[in-house]
Amino acid sequence: MHTSFVPHVLKSCKGKSLLTLTNLSPEEITNLLDLAYQLKKSTNNDEEFKPLIGKTLAMIFDKPSTRTRVSFEVGMMQLGGHVLNLNRQDIQLGRGESIEDTAKVLARYIDAILIRTFDHESVEILAQTTTVPVINGLTDPYHPCQALADLLTLQEEKGHLTGLKVAYIGDGNNVLHSLMHGAAATGIHLTISTPKGYEPDPTVWNEAETLATTTGATLTFHNNPLIAVEDADAVYTDVWASMGQEEEKEKRLHDFAGFQVTQTMMNKAKDDAIFLHCLPAYRDLEVSAEVLDGPQSVVFNQAENRLHTQKALLIALLADV
Ligand code: CP
Ligand code: NVA
Repeated sequence: MHTSFVPHVLKSCKGKSLLTLTNLSPEEITNLLDLAYQLKKSTNNDEEFKPLIGKTLAMIFDKPSTRTRVSFEVGMMQLGGHVLNLNRQDIQLGRGESIEDTAKVLARYIDAILIRTFDHESVEILAQTTTVPVINGLTDPYHPCQALADLLTLQEEKGHLTGLKVAYIGDGNNVLHSLMHGAAATGIHLTISTPKGYEPDPTVWNEAETLATTTGATLTFHNNPLIAVEDADAVYTDVWASMGQEEEKEKRLHDFAGFQVTQTMMNKAKDDAIFLHCLPAYRDLEVSAEVLDGPQSVVFNQAENRLHTQKALLIALLADV
């Protein structure tokens, strides 16, 4: 890996925050995916390539995480940087210090902040108040880092993004919203099927539709998931009850009947269709164990790609190349 590949990505992304995928232009997303692929193909422990020496990322987690926490920490380490893991309870934020004061103080010590929390507004306030890039590691409405990994996985598995047909079956949640932004930015035909009352946010739909007019992407909605998956290159699902919705679990079990991704459903997609899930997954709820653990599933490659796309993102936002 050589720094010579990096600058064209960096020029426009340096110093930006990633609160939703709309913070990046379609060209920046494409460049980030290219860089992520180059990083994936270069040796994991490339001793020569340490563009983040001296940089520190602070990570604030208000919800649990395996992939986001570990891949950001390992990614920073592989690029020569450092990570501080901050749980709200362990810092003064947990005792009522304002998000604004926390943001201003952290910026005096560190180079970027990653936050996983509930409401998106507090992440917007954080980004407006601090002087360093803020990365959204998942909020109730968005999961942009996940969408970058989803796009890399589709590109890797299918060879291209433009013109692919992706079907999303399940809850109109953070993962879907960011996938909608990502698909619209890269020319993907996204078909969505959710139960009534669980449709994606109309604001996100409008944003994605506007973006789609510039890339040739399309967005379609079907009430019937078996129609939505017809002829798809990839079928994507996520949990029925996201973090913070635990008390709705029973109601959602009932409401999502018929929305489990089964082998019968997969058989309606293309013969070489792949199965995607951001993980963690609940076998035999949103997806049958047969599909999740079957030959069409690429979920662990998708999880691995969190590392590569986030390394690309960190370089783009932070490196002094
Ligand atoms: N997909 C994802 O964000 O996983 P974690 O919750 O483990 O970070
Ligand atoms: N929609 C899920 C994604 C977990 C990575 C949640 O918010 O819990």
